[in-house]
Amino acid sequence: TSSSPSSPSSSSSLPTLHFIGKKEDIVRARRVTKLVNGCREVLVLYHQGQLYAMDTRCYHSGGDLQDGDIEEFNGRLCIVCPWHKYKITLAEGEGLYQAVENPTVKPLRTHWCSKGVKQRIHKVTENNGDVYVMLNDSIDPIESDIYQTEKYRTACFKV
Ligand code: FES
Repeated sequence: TSSSPSSPSSSSSLPTLHFIGKKEDIVRARRVTKLVNGCREVLVLYHQGQLYAMDTRCYHSGGDLQDGDIEEFNGRLCIVCPWHKYKITLAEGEGLYQAVENPTVKPLRTHWCSKGVKQRIHKVTENNGDVYVMLNDSIDPIESDIYQTEKYRTACFKV
């Protein structure tokens, strides 16, 4: 059997694009969250002319990144989790932290380090004013995966 590019089948290697919304609406709102493909809560945000997408729940303890500030650390744009202020790079999902160079030398001097990729970042594309997300389906586990189970989401949204 054959399938056209516009109707990918499960055997197709074409990536699936998930519609998030109109770009103008996302630009206006700055942040949008959506349950993508019925399985992944994704935050799409617009900052300084760029769109980014990542798992909504922070890899540390499930904080809602939708409410995080965006700041630059060591020249890298990060979202700062509102719960415990962890810094996560927007483009790569790396956890950044400040390390003390020598604790015996006062005043303390610090430098920025990376813990590696901790938050799953997804790809955002735009076509004719419509914004889509392509889920990052890398099989290597990423820490933010922990907060993407149905059980966690159900507990989280329980009133
Ligand atoms: Fe995000 Fe703790 S839950 S920093």
